[in-house]
Amino acid sequence: MKVRHLLTLLDLTPGDLIGLLDRADRLKAQHRSGGSHRPLTGKTLGLLFEKASTRTRVSFEAAMNQLGGSGLTLSAADLQLKRGETVADTARVLSRYLDALVIRTFGHDHLEAWAAAATIPVVNGLTDLHHPCQVLGDLMTIRERFGALKGLKLAYIGDGNNVAHSLIEGAAKTGIEIHLACPKGYGPNPRIVEASRIVAKQTGAQIETMEEPRKAARDADILYTDVWVSMGQEKEAKSRLKKFKPYQINDKLLSVARPSAVVMHCLPAHRGMEITAEVLDGKQSIVWDQAGNRLHIQKAILEWLLIS
Ligand code: CP
Ligand code: NVA
Repeated sequence: MKVRHLLTLLDLTPGDLIGLLDRADRLKAQHRSGGSHRPLTGKTLGLLFEKASTRTRVSFEAAMNQLGGSGLTLSAADLQLKRGETVADTARVLSRYLDALVIRTFGHDHLEAWAAAATIPVVNGLTDLHHPCQVLGDLMTIRERFGALKGLKLAYIGDGNNVAHSLIEGAAKTGIEIHLACPKGYGPNPRIVEASRIVAKQTGAQIETMEEPRKAARDADILYTDVWVSMGQEKEAKSRLKKFKPYQINDKLLSVARPSAVVMHCLPAHRGMEITAEVLDGKQSIVWDQAGNRLHIQKAILEWLLIS
């Protein structure tokens, strides 16, 4: 049987995607009612993070524990990987001990190499190109707030990075209209935009890229941003901070969105840079629900990978 991996959102059929959101809603309700649900008893999830993480690592580990299984944090520095054992050999061996593996790494091709050799599901916990678990949680949060996804207008302001790419794919799959305003030279990967536009034709989604933040934000239902300097780009910090300055989500930009608009950020946030403290902590921000929902969507992902 072919192993199921979750490397990008384009891997999911629209039916799989909506199924995950529906399941996450039910798991959230069950969690709130205090009910116990332990279908993953005896199973072990490996967590290999080559970049820092608060939300993804902790919520996956908590999700696994709450579903009856256990999470095992692996440190690349303590594995034989650091002494030259190949990714393929490591993936084959770990597949005999673990039931699934969440990996956060730099190059997306590195994650693909893990998935190619592993005989257990591999989940993308963020690469330089994609962040699918984040955006599944985001779609859950948006649907929770608006009751539907199709036809909503999401304005992404800032770097055309991993989070933006997964948002483009998620929007394409669900019929969201996404407008991305990014500084010149920092737009999303054209191959991802092109592939997503093909999917968008079937769902009625729209994907527009531009440089003007106010144009993207006009009449938006959702304003979304991410950090200006992602992990691994620290050396570019000075020039990025300069170029991204006009791309801050602040009260002025929020005022051109719909009065009912919500503000989202995958976090961690830098108040005073990509978003002001007033907006992040203001009444239109749903960032804490957004972070909280990572737990529930990842439970749904784990069930989907391990028992369906
Ligand atoms: N949003 C997100 O993935 O956060 P972490 O880097 O803390 O996992
Ligand atoms: N774009 C950010 C997302 C962190 C969750 C980064 O890659 O650092």
